[in-house]
Amino acid sequence: MSMQKIKENIYFVGAIDWDRKLFDELISLPDGTSYNSYLIKGSEKTALLDSVDPPMYGTLAGNLKELDLSSIDYIISHHAEQDHSGSLPELVKAYPESRIVTNDRCKSMLVDLLLIPESRFLVVEDGDTISLGDKTLQFIFTPWVHWPETMSTYLKEDKILFSCDFFGSHYASSELFVRDEKKIYNAAKRYYAEIMMPFRTNIIKNLDKIKDLDIEIIAPSHGQLYDKIDFIVNAYKEWSSDKVKNEVIIPYISMHGSTEKMVEYFKESLIRSGITVKVFHLTESDIGELAMALVDAATVVIATPTVLAGPHPNMVYAAYLVKALRPKLKFISIIGSYGWGGKTVDILSDIISTLKAEIIEPVIIKGYPKEADFQMLDKLAERIINRHREIFVED
Ligand code: FEO
Repeated sequence: MSMQKIKENIYFVGAIDWDRKLFDELISLPDGTSYNSYLIKGSEKTALLDSVDPPMYGTLAGNLKELDLSSIDYIISHHAEQDHSGSLPELVKAYPESRIVTNDRCKSMLVDLLLIPESRFLVVEDGDTISLGDKTLQFIFTPWVHWPETMSTYLKEDKILFSCDFFGSHYASSELFVRDEKKIYNAAKRYYAEIMMPFRTNIIKNLDKIKDLDIEIIAPSHGQLYDKIDFIVNAYKEWSSDKVKNEVIIPYISMHGSTEKMVEYFKESLIRSGITVKVFHLTESDIGELAMALVDAATVVIATPTVLAGPHPNMVYAAYLVKALRPKLKFISIIGSYGWGGKTVDILSDIISTLKAEIIEPVIIKGYPKEADFQMLDKLAERIINRHREIFVED
């Protein structure tokens, strides 16, 4: 997207990264992404909100040139992560009169990460305002969405909340505003799952913090802008709430078919009882889809063979990811098959031990499943069904 006008004297000047496939060397980007930078011209002063990922600085510089600015007085830095801050060193050279406006914690991180001289900063406190003449910027600290220093800016006269990563989505589009809510619901949910979910309690606090602001537009730092804000605010309320869905997720790997047979059999009892089951064959699945399912599900059952005396290494990775994402799971269990022994349950139990979910007794069998093994799977399914009935009694 090239430069676009949002409202009078307010512009999108960021960059669309249509081709990016991977973020943080970890997160797949099926829809590309954008680095949203905004320019606000007041009657007296001009402010730039965030920069772009360094390889796309040329796009930001071109957009600013198009606006024919005599100066930039303030560069607001909401967040020190380099996809938004990485072009600040270039900007402070290009606009030597500018001051970087941010909070003390973000300043310290920008000095550490980008070696920006301390003299270039103007430090603000939570709730402080800066006047651009006919426009007023109010800074609202929204920590842990998803770094500790993150803040937002509320443009009072135009009722726009510049929310940084909060409410964002990795989504490349030339359309400025969300028009296909279903598509963006999924993109934003994927973003929430991978970036925001570990900080759910902080999300709830930050939602509460902005609830009394009169907001007409939410302008995040990735993806499209929201001019119907209830859509994304309600989605965030739902995702961050304590409520889980009557769902069991089964990430599985099977080397020679034994664990696969267990999954095939086990899932049927759950489905028959009315539970929604989502099965992820990990060697073929997009791990982002698993993360999205973790936003809502009540239960995860990890299904893995034993290899080299422990769980399949890809399942170790998946279990570690589940632990790191800290989903609001209620129950977790493990099933799988081994050839001659191993410590699969011990290793996985250790990884997931920090989750608040109740561990339901695993079913680990020798070789291909036999009648007695199917009976153990029936018992595990029955335990899960009963636990679900207890928590979904009111639904
Ligand atoms: Fe989009 Fe946390 O940076």
